[in-house]
Amino acid sequence: MNLKGRHFLTLLDYSPQEIHALLDLSAKVKEEKKQGIFPQRLLHKNIALLFEKNSTRTRCAFTVAAIDEGAHPEFLGRNDIQFGKKESVADTARVLGRMFDGIQFRGFKHETVEALAKYAGVPVWNGLTDSYHPTQVLADLLTVREVFGRLKGIVFAYVGDGRNNMANSLMIGAAKTGMDFRIVAPSALFPDPALIETVRAIAAETGARITLCEDIETGVKAADVIYTDVWVSMGEESRFAERIQLLLPYQVNAAMMKKTGKADSIFLHCLPAFHDLQTGVGMDIYEKFGIPAMEVTDEVFESPASRVWDQAENRMHTIKAVMIATLAD
Ligand code: CP
Ligand code: NVA
Repeated sequence: MNLKGRHFLTLLDYSPQEIHALLDLSAKVKEEKKQGIFPQRLLHKNIALLFEKNSTRTRCAFTVAAIDEGAHPEFLGRNDIQFGKKESVADTARVLGRMFDGIQFRGFKHETVEALAKYAGVPVWNGLTDSYHPTQVLADLLTVREVFGRLKGIVFAYVGDGRNNMANSLMIGAAKTGMDFRIVAPSALFPDPALIETVRAIAAETGARITLCEDIETGVKAADVIYTDVWVSMGEESRFAERIQLLLPYQVNAAMMKKTGKADSIFLHCLPAFHDLQTGVGMDIYEKFGIPAMEVTDEVFESPASRVWDQAENRMHTIKAVMIATLAD
């Protein structure tokens, strides 16, 4: 596999073989770190971490992965640089590309990360846009592979906001890796028909199945994985009332986990999660809407089926693999 110089904007740009190779490299660097082996494959590389939106996992994963490999990460927050205020995306890209060896971008419009990629002259990695979150999906695929030993044929139910960045990106990842993937959501929150057409064309090649399903019983039946995400993504904060009304029946709770009919189904969530609104985080939502949890109950989140911390750790190993594959000499 030679991915040197490539951008990482969505998994649509990567073949199934390339995705599997990135997962293999992720598993290798994970094992190396556990053994205390640090080969410094990115020594003297400088990495720009450009953030319009907040982040815990993605920012920390890029930072730690870069430092583990001997690179220097530089955090550039939305209020720190001229970006988007005094200087255009294209000009910022050309300046950063003269100084840095790779650029991570997290922000709103997907067109912004595309413009950075067009002008920077160095690899650009998408750390989340309104439309896609591909580094998260690599971590999710690695986690599923670690639990079940395979991806092909895995029954994967994504429950909740079926048209957000996670739904879009998981659907692409599942199509590329041959899963039986279901979006389980109210039809008002089904994905963009153009993207469905694209992923179904990929599925026809890989043997994947992509299904959209409003009915919960049908959607989660025989699921190996139940995955959910927040009901209101960053940038949509005015929509809590409307989403709670639409999505409360789709909350992942113990009764839903039972509906899989499988004893070894796992629960995944990209995090952060609103699983316990009464203990501080999300208290305002609890007070306003009177619900103790949103997309997942505390019972499921804290259960043995929940693999969310493995998933969060895997962000670091998979992001390290992406940086090595696209940047190392
Ligand atoms: N899952 C994820 O991207 O988390 P952060 O928003 O904390 O980076
Ligand atoms: N859909 C969420 C994902 C967070 C990692 C958001 O965009 O806020």
